[in-house]
Amino acid sequence: MMKTKIFKLNDLEDQDTLNLLSDAIKENQLVIFPTETVYGIGAYALSPLASKNIYTAKNRPSDNPLIVHIASKSDVNLYVKEVPLKAKLLMDHFWPGPLTMIFEKSDIVPFETTGGLNTVALRMPDHQGALKLIEASGPIAAPSANISGKPSSTEFKHVYSDFNGKVAYIIDGGKTLIGLESTVIDVRNQVTLLRPGSITKTMIEKILDESILDHSKDRPTDLVLSPGMKYTHYKPVGNVTLLKGDILRVISFLNQLNEDSKKNLCIITVNDYLDTFKDYKVSLLGKISDSKEIGHNLFSSLRLMDEWAIENIYIYLNETDEYSQTIMNRLLKASGYQVKDFS
Ligand code: TXA
Ligand code: MG
Repeated sequence: MMKTKIFKLNDLEDQDTLNLLSDAIKENQLVIFPTETVYGIGAYALSPLASKNIYTAKNRPSDNPLIVHIASKSDVNLYVKEVPLKAKLLMDHFWPGPLTMIFEKSDIVPFETTGGLNTVALRMPDHQGALKLIEASGPIAAPSANISGKPSSTEFKHVYSDFNGKVAYIIDGGKTLIGLESTVIDVRNQVTLLRPGSITKTMIEKILDESILDHSKDRPTDLVLSPGMKYTHYKPVGNVTLLKGDILRVISFLNQLNEDSKKNLCIITVNDYLDTFKDYKVSLLGKISDSKEIGHNLFSSLRLMDEWAIENIYIYLNETDEYSQTIMNRLLKASGYQVKDFS
């Protein structure tokens, strides 16, 4: 175990601290930092050894590529062979922000960072602390800061419990603003959505003035376009089932479960249904009309299930708008596609 040192976000104002952190990055060490989406576990993106250190710390399969985080739009030219016009439009509109774009990589980006692919994922985060760190250190490869397979980290306590003793530094930035990871699109030929996020398909189509392809709903197989799609994600220890549809039928389904499975059961749902589920232990995500708030709290709630040692996790949520489809995307994965639809 190494000693992990913890800094607060405003420690980055101090030049000595910033130097210490950027030296660590340049020396292939790991630094966990907040972004506007989720926490990232960062290392120098142009160093094969640094990327390997990330895979080891996360216990992540090494064919699952990392996102390279940059601090200025013009840096894109250093890491990609070609910037398609459509990508430029999207960059101008959405960066800094939660949009990751996949390009053909330039030679200086090592295959260790891209999981062996000829492509590289780039994103400029909309977070002052993250941008400061990247500016001082150079491009930072950073996947979500969670042990592979666990929910992404949206709070300091999540990264601390997963990585204390395994990384050199953690920057505590409190709870992250968005709470779900960035939207991922491939911009090489036809623009293709690979992972939905808070920048929705409709928002992208509006800027491009054309419809884009959507592969974000592809089920895990070996043929998926984005390696991340084929692995288990966001999974608490307990068994997760997604419930949809008519709430009265959901209640009667729960009521007929045997006493044993009811004992260690928790329902994750929206505030509006607190009364309806009054006989059960619940974790609330926010108001049904506020998808942003639900997304903001989702991973905290999934992680709470482990803190509470829940064995049977039922999530009752219905799609209300486009952003709630992003939330559903994470929930489908968290449940391993176990869905009971009572519509
Ligand atoms: O919001 C976010 O994107 C966060 C913060 C830290 O920036 N990062 C994040 O990284 O979620 P990660 O590694 O957990 O998810 C990156 C996703 C994975 O599904 C990966 O397979 C995909 O992006 N990806 C990365 N590079 C790719 C590439 N070259 N081709 C296809 N998919 C790629
Ligand atoms: Mg991840």
